Amino acid sequence: MRSHYCGQVIETLLDQDVTLCGWAHRRRDHGGVIFIDLRDREGLVQAVIDPDTPEAFTTAERVRNEYVLRVSGRVRRRPPGTENPNLPTGAVEVLAREIEILNRSEPLPFQLDDDDTSEEVRLRYRYLDLRRPEMQNRLQLRTRTISALRQFLEQHGFMDIETPMLTKATPEGARDYLVPSRTHPGSFFALPQSPQLFKQLLMMAGLDRYYQVVRCFRDEDLRADRQPEFTQLDIETSFMDEASIIDLMEELIRQMFKAVLEVDLPNPFPRMPYDTAMQRYGSDKPDLRIPLELTELSDLMATVEFKVFSGPATNPNGRVVALRVPGGGSLSRREIDGYTEFVGRYGAKGLAYIKVNDATAGREGLQAPIVKFMDDETLTKILTRTGAESGDLIFFGADSVKVVNDALGALRVKIGHDLKLLKGEWAPLWVVNFPMFEWDETERRWNALHHPFTAPRTEDTEEVRANPQQCLSRAYDMVLNGTEIGGGSVRIHRQEMQSLVFDLLGIAPDEARAKFGFLLDALKFGCPPHGGIAFGLDRLVMLMAGAKSIREVMAFPKTQTAACLLTQAPAPVTEAQLRDLNIRLRRTP
Ligand code: AMO
Ligand code: AMP
Repeated sequence: MRSHYCGQVIETLLDQDVTLCGWAHRRRDHGGVIFIDLRDREGLVQAVIDPDTPEAFTTAERVRNEYVLRVSGRVRRRPPGTENPNLPTGAVEVLAREIEILNRSEPLPFQLDDDDTSEEVRLRYRYLDLRRPEMQNRLQLRTRTISALRQFLEQHGFMDIETPMLTKATPEGARDYLVPSRTHPGSFFALPQSPQLFKQLLMMAGLDRYYQVVRCFRDEDLRADRQPEFTQLDIETSFMDEASIIDLMEELIRQMFKAVLEVDLPNPFPRMPYDTAMQRYGSDKPDLRIPLELTELSDLMATVEFKVFSGPATNPNGRVVALRVPGGGSLSRREIDGYTEFVGRYGAKGLAYIKVNDATAGREGLQAPIVKFMDDETLTKILTRTGAESGDLIFFGADSVKVVNDALGALRVKIGHDLKLLKGEWAPLWVVNFPMFEWDETERRWNALHHPFTAPRTEDTEEVRANPQQCLSRAYDMVLNGTEIGGGSVRIHRQEMQSLVFDLLGIAPDEARAKFGFLLDALKFGCPPHGGIAFGLDRLVMLMAGAKSIREVMAFPKTQTAACLLTQAPAPVTEAQLRDLNIRLRRTP
């Protein structure tokens, strides 16, 4: 049917005959000559139809945008001055001898090269949206990425093993998607939030090294980097500690970046304890391209007259920090109000600031209402600790640790982007030394920071029971440019420890039995030490593609409200189907 892809028609094919199949991207009538930009997966090439070939010419006159065509002709150099340097095929064109219309198209609901098309329309007609070269490139990048990852893993002895989609709840912190069972009335499958337990069972089965490119399902609040179904590169190994897993996994990502993007990532990636990340960046996934840091001021502010600061400074659950903005002295009142409104979204009740007009002039050089609450010594210390210079601005956050971290951590990122302070293109990072548990004040119990199967640093159950708040876990997260792209841990491989952790998480023994009995049993029969990681493949490709949302690198994503605009899923089902499933819907009157 064809000899080449459109995008492959370059100067090396000069004077050769080619046959191409594709879509009429654009047709132009130039007084007697017709030009058709023919498009396929690999790109665009210009076809020229001369009235000297009357049959082809008459056909070309009938061609409209997005008609599907087969074009045969000879490749020739474009006349001087008509080359298109923006196209890889821009030095040549195909002088058509024959054109066949393989199919017609109605006018499209939107123009493919209109960048302002709403996402709603794009998702409704996703098959058209995916015709856009930008989307085709992203999906090609995704293919190449997965292929490079698979290649590395297979070279390193990992086996690709599938795990069930119809299964039992796998706790990763989200709500489950449930599937009613027809044959077991009143019972439900859960779609996996991850293959976590199955991959651990594969280690117990002695498979040693497992991987899978696998769909996961989580019913949670959606954002730019969260979808209800997404893809993980899921990995598990036996007889490796966290240091060797971390080494191997960063080698995987490094080699993939080299193969796909020709980018050399640092070797090794920097590693940062969780505490340091929270202290300095207010986040467990800091974007290290942004050269701004939070400065701790809690100790300094305990005695100031300003209650807004001294309150959180003297509260063990409170925190006061500064964020120095180099050159921020030129921010306008309106911009500062904008940032105040921004931190408000994270619960901050205000955003105090000091403008450093002259860093050498003592209190006279500082401009802000809050200056009057502080003595000279405190002001000097603020300047030294933040390293502020003349022309800078210092923001202050004072509240609970959580609000300060969320608000000022987000502000740091926003200002970094607004003021274009980013340094370097790729900043990978391992975050390590996570606490094992997190106290949940509303539920009045411990939560697992990673998941309930993560091993604590110590093998001593008594130590864990006595001091859960001090307990560090063997978890690690890989962060890239401020996005968590992967997370994993060494797992608990002893039954007593697993039972204890369930207990601390408020999962009673009979509940643990009912939910995870199979795991507790399996742990009794010679379970090897094991651990692994899962990468968010969509997030990884999103970053590599420079896209703003993971929806841009998924062929058929869902909306923010977890619906598919293309197929109109989810959709009501018939009474008969519900009856089969023993489900009765409550009617609203
Ligand atoms: P975790 O829950 O951290 O770990 O998930 C691993 C990675 O998956 C990505 N991710 C998501 N991507 C898109 N949409 C979502 N809703 C979403 N949720 C998570 C993130 C995250 O880093 N079983 C463990 C892994 C392990 O311990 O081996 C797990 O699933 O990039
Ligand atoms: P007020 O005394 O409420 O007028 O606040 C004085 C300054 O402190 C204003 O710039 C407020 O935005 C700021 N402010 C108020 N609450 C906080 C807070 N929790 N953290 C940081 N700044 C605050």
